[in-house]
Amino acid sequence: MYQDTLFDEKIALVTGGRSGIGYSIAKMYLQLGGQVIVASRKQTELEAAAKELSEFGSCCWHCCDIRDVDHVTSLAQRIQDEYGRLDILVNNAGGQFASPAESISSNGWSAVINNNLNGTFYVSRQMAKTFFIPQKAGVIVNIIANMFRGFPGMAHTGAARAGVENLTRTLAQEWAEYNIRINAIAPGIIESSGLDTYPEPIRASFEESRGANLMKRFGTPEDVANAAMFYSSPLSSYISGTTLYVDGMEHLAGHNMRLLTTIREMLNTDQ
Ligand SMILES: NC(=O)c1ccc[n+]([C@@H]2O[C@H](COP(=O)([O-])OP(=O)(O)OC[C@H]3O[C@@H](n4cnc5c(N)ncnc54)[C@H](OP(=O)(O)O)[C@@H]3O)[C@@H](O)[C@H]2O)c1
Repeated sequence: MYQDTLFDEKIALVTGGRSGIGYSIAKMYLQLGGQVIVASRKQTELEAAAKELSEFGSCCWHCCDIRDVDHVTSLAQRIQDEYGRLDILVNNAGGQFASPAESISSNGWSAVINNNLNGTFYVSRQMAKTFFIPQKAGVIVNIIANMFRGFPGMAHTGAARAGVENLTRTLAQEWAEYNIRINAIAPGIIESSGLDTYPEPIRASFEESRGANLMKRFGTPEDVANAAMFYSSPLSSYISGTTLYVDGMEHLAGHNMRLLTTIREMLNTDQ
């Protein structure tokens, strides 16, 4: 749908680009002429994904845990050595688990906040300092989640994603003078590898959500990637600090309590 030269000469970093939504975003940049670096923790899977992606264009990989500032610094150094610049950052890496709030341990809480909020900040800060601010140009796209009416069943990720949404608005204003645009995408339920990480009863509750969605389907990784292409291209050059819901109106009309009800039922059955 976009011109296949849209990202000619552009270098894009996609965290979590080895799977699911991130993979789809990386693939679309490549198909539209960009060069891509995918970064995540699991070397074997990451290397295999980068090899597959190389069929569509120039793609390299770099192991990085976004929670570790030293890893993030070495990722920036690698990009500097390899390309000498960076044009686009997609903060897509993340993860969480379902639990009633009262059962989330302090460690579990910290792990999710660290991954989904702190990691996003560390990568954004490093890439801005190394590339975007000196270049006086850059685009950041933050993949968050639909937590418009709170996130019953995943309080930690709801809080972290709300933090990233607010960070998106703050950084958009602070870094506007450097010609950096920052926007967020809030996916609803997306049929991707991320769903496989949940236990069966929760996956079944997601299935119920499919029928209840006003568009009668889940989102696809390509739905999210299309939005990321828009936000990282000049087509959105006068848009910054915003959030785009890619959720078939789930944030307006979804059944907000279904996940929590399912987890409570699971926990009661286990007892
Ligand atoms: N699928 C959905 O319905 C949905 C809805 C809303 C939001 N989201 C969010 O969208 C993003 C992508 O989701 P997905 O469905 O594509 O899930 P996914 O396949 O599980 O992708 C998550 C990616 O993040 C990477 N990652 C996780 N923690 C990391 C860390 N500390 N450092 C570096 N990389 C890390 C993982 O790679 P490694 O394991 O190799 O590190 C993986 O490639 C996630 O943030 C997810 O929470 C998904």
